[in-house]
Amino acid sequence: MCGIIGYVGKDSAAPILLDGLRRLEYRGYDSSGLAILNGSGMEVRKCSGRLQNLRTLVAGSPIKGSCGISHTRWATHGPPTDENAHPHLDNTGKLALVHNGVIENHQSLRNGLEKNGHTFRSQTDSEVLAHLIGDIFDKQTEGTAEMRLVDAVRKALRKVTGTYGIVVVHEDAPDFLVGARLGSPLVVGLGKGENFLASDVAAVISHTSDAIYLNDHDLVYMTGEDFKIESLDGGSVSFEVSRVEFTEEQVEMGDFPHYMLKEIFEQPDSILNAFRGRLSDEEASAKLGGLNLTPQQLREVDRIVLVGCGTASHAAMVGEYLIESLARIPTEVEIASEFRYRNLPLDKSTLIFVISQSGETIDTLAAMREGQRKGHRVLGIVNTVGSTIARESDGGCYLHSGPEIGVAATKSFTSQVTVLALLAILLGRMRHLSMAAGKQILQEIRELPDKVKTILEQSDRIRDIALKYLDAEGMLFLGRQFNFPTALEGALKMKEISYIFASGHPSAELKHGIIALVSEDLPSVFIAPSDSVLEKNISNIEEVKARKGPVIAITTEGNEEVARIADDVIYIPPVVECLSPILASIPLQLLAYHFSVAKGCDVDKPRNLAKSVTVE
Ligand code: F6R
Repeated sequence: MCGIIGYVGKDSAAPILLDGLRRLEYRGYDSSGLAILNGSGMEVRKCSGRLQNLRTLVAGSPIKGSCGISHTRWATHGPPTDENAHPHLDNTGKLALVHNGVIENHQSLRNGLEKNGHTFRSQTDSEVLAHLIGDIFDKQTEGTAEMRLVDAVRKALRKVTGTYGIVVVHEDAPDFLVGARLGSPLVVGLGKGENFLASDVAAVISHTSDAIYLNDHDLVYMTGEDFKIESLDGGSVSFEVSRVEFTEEQVEMGDFPHYMLKEIFEQPDSILNAFRGRLSDEEASAKLGGLNLTPQQLREVDRIVLVGCGTASHAAMVGEYLIESLARIPTEVEIASEFRYRNLPLDKSTLIFVISQSGETIDTLAAMREGQRKGHRVLGIVNTVGSTIARESDGGCYLHSGPEIGVAATKSFTSQVTVLALLAILLGRMRHLSMAAGKQILQEIRELPDKVKTILEQSDRIRDIALKYLDAEGMLFLGRQFNFPTALEGALKMKEISYIFASGHPSAELKHGIIALVSEDLPSVFIAPSDSVLEKNISNIEEVKARKGPVIAITTEGNEEVARIADDVIYIPPVVECLSPILASIPLQLLAYHFSVAKGCDVDKPRNLAKSVTVE
């Protein structure tokens, strides 16, 4: 949520910052702006709306200078107007700041500053921080401007309650950036004769692959030639330079019209990457070395709690069914924002997993820390290498899906379920799961990528189905057992990118109220593969048809019974029941995608949303 990038070096800052913002736009797209030190002063360009508006503004009124900061906003405090766009200036107009996070005590700080003659130009919490730092800076007399700025940032942040990733520049300290983080990500990019500070390495990948992921309470200051990282209280901190794994091409759209479609089509590879090197034929089990747990410790686990938000929580729900059926370990799913504030009774043999694509979702991160505070080992199932959850968890598994940029999660869902299936097999094989059953599931996992390809080949057909229902006032998504979470995920995809009402339910819940909604204008999407609950699903389809409700069914190739009663059918290849959500979710992603495109919605940047939710 909100993307920031700062640059100091020898090249022209504006094109570098604009290109970096393009890579960060998925984090927020309500407004954008930049501030550049032009050698004699500071120049700011900022405006509401998409990044293209800022590009036009800068093209019409270019800025020279090789040190600057920039921001793309997801609005929290104050609507998305030009005034509320970052960067924000201090009272003198000589200091500029970009901020990602929330300053919770902004009102009291603002009141104090106003009493001392400060005039504010925006309704944001962030502007308060710019004024506060500037105020302290102006009162300092000792030392160079650079070190006074560092000191002012340090002192100001001590007065702040909330979360921040910030970068600050000042006219009196040209060619100098100061950054700090608490709760919002900030990465140092190390170049040759140039350095960067950004919310995500994707923003700097065209310039460098050497990155330092800052920790909470770290403060950094840098020129193009040098940098220093200290703790907020001035102490020394340890850090390591990491090599960024992904390439520039991976964060580009290539020949696809949208990131979401690209990422849907990447699933044969991303699923393969999730299980590559993790299948053990010899033991008919999975190898997950990153869990950092001995077989004895894994055997002692008698309860599992899976924590996540949104799509990750739906993957967790599939995980619950997988672990309970294959390993017979009681498992429950907790929504991270609820888990962090409730006092769930947990004992020593409970294992907690936090699941997150970004590894930065604030509620999931806080849930992890809450579990750790209570003495629990918390493991992460995370996609983004170097993210805060990846670094702070006590072990876990990477998804290896590559960057996911489309705001709607797609490939991360199928990879999360794949990793959870591996976990269920591993735990199962230490308990009741037979060698033969373990082997069969491993074989089924191996076959997933090819089966996904056959589903992707139906993309055009799924588009035709989407077009047929374009006037629908809403959509119901229904499934049973392993595919109840798939129904929730299908509904989430549809509503978040198409803005139509959609809700997911266990098929049998229809009769407990939801069926009142069924009409000719409200299609129901049934996930009804040929599995142990097929007959039950068919009865539920009949109930909808009897009330003139149109039915789109996802079923297994060759299932003529479902084809006979449904209005439209999308086939998936046969697959063992416990892995069926991986295949069944893909037609639902394509259905939502084509529906959204046909409705003219902005698929990759749906309204009001942003990827990586770093505020509560
Ligand atoms: C939906 C979606 C969100 C995320 C949720 C958690 O398509 O993308 O619901 O799944 O915000 O994000 P991560 O997995 O990054 O913690």
